[in-house]
Amino acid sequence: MPNAHFLKSDICSFPFEKEDFTYIFKADDKKESLIFCKNKEESFFLQLIDKDDSYLLKSEKITRPTNIKIVQDAIRCFVEKNGLKIISSNIFSKKNHLKKRSPFLKDILYFKDFEVAREVEIEIGFGSGRHILHQAKKQPHKTFIGIEIHKPSIEQLLKQCELQGITNIMVIDYDARILLQILKSNTVSKIYLHFPVPWDKKPHRRVVSRAFMDECIRVLKPNGRLEIRTDSENYFRYSLEILLSLKKGEFKINKNSSLEISSKYEDRWRKMEKNIYDLHFINQELSKPLQDRKMVEFDKRVDLELVKRKFSNKTIRGDDYFVHFEKIYKNDEENLIVIKLSFGDYKMSEHKYMILRDNTISFLPKEILPIRQNLLALETIKEYMHESK
Ligand SMILES: C[S@@+](CC[C@H](N)C(=O)[O-])C[C@H]1O[C@@H](n2cnc3c(N)ncnc32)[C@H](O)[C@@H]1O
Repeated sequence: MPNAHFLKSDICSFPFEKEDFTYIFKADDKKESLIFCKNKEESFFLQLIDKDDSYLLKSEKITRPTNIKIVQDAIRCFVEKNGLKIISSNIFSKKNHLKKRSPFLKDILYFKDFEVAREVEIEIGFGSGRHILHQAKKQPHKTFIGIEIHKPSIEQLLKQCELQGITNIMVIDYDARILLQILKSNTVSKIYLHFPVPWDKKPHRRVVSRAFMDECIRVLKPNGRLEIRTDSENYFRYSLEILLSLKKGEFKINKNSSLEISSKYEDRWRKMEKNIYDLHFINQELSKPLQDRKMVEFDKRVDLELVKRKFSNKTIRGDDYFVHFEKIYKNDEENLIVIKLSFGDYKMSEHKYMILRDNTISFLPKEILPIRQNLLALETIKEYMHESK
């Protein structure tokens, strides 16, 4: 991760600017601060750690833009503007990252009302991108949506699209289980899930579940397909069991079949002579339209002193949603606070910062999806902001 370790010295008062960046404010929690930073395309935090006689300035995980070059530049500009004396840093390395945000990288809300006349196919967890690139080149008349949570894989795919002049891929940096919940019903022709995260890794990271299958069926057109390919017999059997419990739909099973393109993972498993299972589900349902859900509105008049006084690291649990208040960062001079939160569905929580400033409440990253567990969690946060307990 980009960082710069430098000797302590005076820092310009906020806000200040350098090149493309505006450094808007700093908020502190003991020996750690957040610096709110913006350029034309992105808003994010840098994290400043007090190491007694030096500071470490680094990328902040939750708000980090997908394009790491932007964070490197933000740290470099901060260091240069303040004339800081560097002890060590990795921001001046010459790695060839994309400088500008790619037009093919989309924010999650872009997909809320997404519908195009062309056929749409989705790949969940594209990893090295070999399969999605192959499909997009072979079928230029279709639109492909690639969903990943691993930022270096996303950067790599965007770079390949640019180098190879591929324009029919859209990339999204988000949990696929959440994205599926906001896509319109009956709009997708194919969903590929190839070699999902191994079965034995943390169960909450498992993509397939009954709820996931329900969402796949909802977004697939009649005759649309879900293609699961895995080296894990457990994963295969579990997915099959769910599909067998459905009333409608057809499926096809295969073992050790070859595809036109082999992914990095597949190459590895083949070398180890592991079995590879294919489970294809062909949807036969026309699903109901997605119910339109209204976003929770926050009352602007929040008593910041009250929130500061009562704040503690705590979790509020509902039946199938939660809110965890983790940390509070304060800037008393500016009369602002930033709260680090996670909330939503227990298995696929959202991680955000809530910024309370100038009688406004905003979130970073800013998109909050109107899915049921998020809305319940936001109502809980709203109550918390206003009740005096
Ligand atoms: C085992 S790798 C397989 C990659 C690729 N499909 C292949 O065959 O080489 C699983 C990939 O899924 C991604 N992933 C895991 N959970 C995800 C989720 N909830 N949403 C989107 N991508 C996810 C991981 O980051 C990882 O790149």
